Amino acid sequence: MFKDFSKDFWWGTASSGPQHEGAALEGGREPSIWDKYYEMSSERFFNEVGPQECGDFYHRFKEDLTIFKELGLTSYRTSIQWSRLLPFGTKTPNPDAVRFYNEVIDAMLELGITPFMNLHHFDMPWSHQEKGGWENRDTVKEFRYFAEQCFQLFGDRVEYWFTFNEPIVVPYIAYVGDHLYPNVMDMQRAMTVAYHTSLAHAEAMDAFRQGSYKGKAGIILNIAPSYPRSSNPEDVKAAHLADLFHNESFKEPVLKGTYSQELIKFMADHNMPLPILEGDDKIIAKGKVDILGVNYYAPQRVKVKDNLVNPKAPIRPGTFFDSYDMPGKKINPHRGWEIYPQGIYDCLIDIRDNYNNIETFISENGMGVENEEPFRNAQGFIEDSYRIDFIKDHLAQVHKAISEGCNCKGYHLWTFVDTWSWMNAYKNRYGYVELQLHNDKKRVIKKSGYWIKKVIEDSGFDYK
Ligand code: BG6
Repeated sequence: MFKDFSKDFWWGTASSGPQHEGAALEGGREPSIWDKYYEMSSERFFNEVGPQECGDFYHRFKEDLTIFKELGLTSYRTSIQWSRLLPFGTKTPNPDAVRFYNEVIDAMLELGITPFMNLHHFDMPWSHQEKGGWENRDTVKEFRYFAEQCFQLFGDRVEYWFTFNEPIVVPYIAYVGDHLYPNVMDMQRAMTVAYHTSLAHAEAMDAFRQGSYKGKAGIILNIAPSYPRSSNPEDVKAAHLADLFHNESFKEPVLKGTYSQELIKFMADHNMPLPILEGDDKIIAKGKVDILGVNYYAPQRVKVKDNLVNPKAPIRPGTFFDSYDMPGKKINPHRGWEIYPQGIYDCLIDIRDNYNNIETFISENGMGVENEEPFRNAQGFIEDSYRIDFIKDHLAQVHKAISEGCNCKGYHLWTFVDTWSWMNAYKNRYGYVELQLHNDKKRVIKKSGYWIKKVIEDSGFDYK
């Protein structure tokens, strides 16, 4: 059956400054938390390839955008690096950064590509991290200032703004996980970081509205629907808690303008009160978004804990529930993530039914695969049929959700050209376009790139 999408559906891709720009030491940029973490712990990064080995969008954006246009894609998300625009805590925008982002935005507009600009993609400038990063409430006003600068400098042309990409990730990986500085395993500090990030988001939304800029502003959340192992009330309770920490911690403030009372109470009941000050509710209320980006990769499957917790172990979300390894689940073995296309539908239906059917788009979805070399064909390009199948299965669910009334406007694949991906560096490739890292970073369109071009031309595709 043909899955048809509207002519104005946003066919795009997502990327980020810290993962694709490169030129980390050029143009006056200061190191971000990732550059410093690589300096401290390079062995943690796949093949010890660090953030300075990015795809060089800084010098090659015209080439990338030309290929982007050739594939018929219409909207491109990247981010403005705080560490490039306002390095070392300066209040005066770095002229080289202003030139670079102006050139990128102008090049997109000339090609008829809509820029979607995000302001924070896990990439705290080191000078702010040294002062405590998101644990320090002063960072909230610093972020508002950065956002204001971005709106003032580029708001005459950018019409889709996003304050944060996946704001729950930094609290999780750096404060209750072991994947980023400061690796502290402390749930109270993690949720303090999350809380201050909510305030920073709301301040940036307020700055956007105060400036009466054109367009829309919102946030990008990685929503992982939380499914209990069974209908046993303890499993259901466990899944609810996983949802509260991972999803509701940001969904409620950004979609309803209130901070979850349940989360506040849970943290207080466990002697980890959140650092709430009088009047914060008024700030949070300003954070209601115009548009929500939904990043969907995999669900969380959850069960009640099998074993009692070591009382000396640090408290983490996993103190309160276990992950459930469902028999028969389909897995992407390269990334270890479950493949469950219906999850994307469940996310959209939840937003339709419980969050006023706010305007959304799929801001990330994709399949990371290690070593695509065996799939290279005689013409020299990678035949990534597995990625096409993955995208089709997810788009079919998006199509179903739209046909049932969901206000979903587009689909952005992660990513356009294979990018550097945090600890995984270049292990898993996600792009419509291959990055030949050791061949002068040459870009070569994959089969999925040619496939999406046809989908866009036809405004849809045939599906089993
Ligand atoms: C998303 C992030 O969660 O997943 C991206 O926004 C990231 O920055 C992408 O690269 C894929 O995850 P990973 O860990 O395989 O790079």
